[in-house]
Amino acid sequence: MLSLIVAYDKNKSIGQENTIPWRIKSDMLRVKELTTNQTIIMGRKTLDSIGRALPNRINRVLTRDENSLNHYSNIEVYTDDSILENIETEKAYIFGGGTVYSKYLHKCDEMFITEVDTVVEADTKFPEFDENDWDLISREEFSKDENNKFNFVFMHYKRKRKE
Ligand SMILES: NC(=O)c1ccc[n+]([C@@H]2O[C@H](COP(=O)([O-])OP(=O)(O)OC[C@H]3O[C@@H](n4cnc5c(N)ncnc54)[C@H](OP(=O)(O)O)[C@@H]3O)[C@@H](O)[C@H]2O)c1
Repeated sequence: MLSLIVAYDKNKSIGQENTIPWRIKSDMLRVKELTTNQTIIMGRKTLDSIGRALPNRINRVLTRDENSLNHYSNIEVYTDDSILENIETEKAYIFGGGTVYSKYLHKCDEMFITEVDTVVEADTKFPEFDENDWDLISREEFSKDENNKFNFVFMHYKRKRKE
C-alpha cells in the first residue's frame, strides 16, 4: 500500500523557504502516529528542512547526488524510482515535498491530508488532483486552541477502484 501524507493551506500551499509555514501540534502528532514503524519517502530538500532522520521509521530519501547526504545517519538514499520498491513495512508514505508529491501522487492508493484554515505565502504547492478520482473515507474538523493556531481538517481519501 502506497500512502501519502501532507498538510496544506486553503490554496494547497505546503512550504516556504524550505520550512512549513505553521505549527499545528495535532498534525505533528497525527504524522507521528500514522508513520511510526512505517517507511517514509521524501525529497532531499524535505530531509534538509527536518534536519535529521525521523526516529522509529525507515527514512528513504531521493536525491540526484547521493554523496551530498553522507552527513546524515539512519537514512536510505535513492537516486531513482527504485525508492518505491521492496518496501518492508506494512505501509510507505510519500512524505513530500512538492517535487516528490508531484512525482508519485499518481501511484498512491490513499492520502492523509490536513487542510489548515489559513492562506500563507508559499513557494511550494501540493499538486492539483481530481477529487472525482478519490473516495473521502473520513473528514474531521477541529477548532484552533492553545496548541493549534488555526482551525484544521483531517481528511482520509482512498483512490477509487477502476470498474
Ligand atoms: N506541508 C507539508 O506537509 C510538507 C511536507 C513535506 C515538505 N514540505 C515542504 O516542501 C518544501 C520542499 O519541497 P521541494 O519540492 O522544494 O523539495 P523536495 O521534494 O523535498 O526535494 C526535492 C529534491 O529531491 C530530489 N529529487 C527530486 N526529483 C528527483 C528525481 N527524479 N531523481 C532524483 N532526485 C530527485 C532532488 O534532490 P537533490 O537536489 O539532492 O538532487 C531535489 O532537489 C519545503 O518547504 C518543505 O518544508 C511540506
